[in-house]
Amino acid sequence: MNACIRAIVKSCLYSNIQPVGIRDGFKGMMEGDFWLMKYKDVDNIIQMGGTVLGTARSKEFMEKDRRKQAIDNLVSQEIDGLIVIGGDGSFAGAQTLSQEMGIPVIGVPATIDNDIYGTDHTIGYDTALNTVTQAVDKIRDTASSHHRIFFVEVMGRHAGFIALNSAIASGAETVLIPEETTDLEQLVAQIKSQNKGKRSSIIIVAEGDDAGGSMDIIRKVSPYLEGYDLKTSVLGHLQRGGSPSAFDRILATRMGAYALELLLSGKRNLMVGSQGDNLQTITIQQGIKMNSTPDLTKLDLLKKMLTAH
Ligand code: F6P
Repeated sequence: MNACIRAIVKSCLYSNIQPVGIRDGFKGMMEGDFWLMKYKDVDNIIQMGGTVLGTARSKEFMEKDRRKQAIDNLVSQEIDGLIVIGGDGSFAGAQTLSQEMGIPVIGVPATIDNDIYGTDHTIGYDTALNTVTQAVDKIRDTASSHHRIFFVEVMGRHAGFIALNSAIASGAETVLIPEETTDLEQLVAQIKSQNKGKRSSIIIVAEGDDAGGSMDIIRKVSPYLEGYDLKTSVLGHLQRGGSPSAFDRILATRMGAYALELLLSGKRNLMVGSQGDNLQTITIQQGIKMNSTPDLTKLDLLKKMLTAH
């Protein structure tokens, strides 16, 4: 997100507009935690993970009187337009604000899950995908040395983008994603046949899989996999940190600058999205209501890559 914040601040200053950062999302908006940002505040942050503004999930924002505080703060701070960097929850809050006080809002999609409708990529997804791929490569080293089978759990909340694409990138034997019902009997048979003559197997499990996380799955299948050395590794929040990839820095910079252009041209209540190498917009309502799912034909590609003879 820092690359996006940097692009918005620099674009504002380029157009002689005062950028105001709001710390910790809607929580900071309700508390009036505003930051009049200058050039030096975004110096050397393009390579930093996380967000210098901080972020927070804020349930109180759903309460009208707490939202009123936020609106009063925006008015007294003379904020003319809002760029919200986040997921569908952030966009829903922003849209409510826009309806209640008329402030123009532009959404920039940022989540490692990549499941926001209307964009090929969300900010953070490519970095998380690379982090997971590198982690799985490391796990493969020890799995092969010890002749083990690893169930690696990755994030994605309800979506399988990280799981499916990291499985292809890391050469994993199997992937379990929420978009496909998991058949545990078939999984056991698959593990046995794929592991024949191999020193290791990697099964990537999306945390939202219908059969549960990697711990649940290993518990369910281990009685049928006697003689196999099964291990699990839950990658957890390391998928949300680290220096952003070049792809993400470029995406975030382009989306941030474009979001300001849209506001300056009088547009409102849109979400910026990528389509191939181009940027597009959809209504923020579409970004909230609709979800996107991974290309499931990649499951066939994965099967093809498993041909062992
Ligand atoms: O939505 C992004 C995400 O990282 C999901 O992939 C994950 O399930 C969730 O956030 C974790 O949320 P928290 O950090 O609040 O536990």
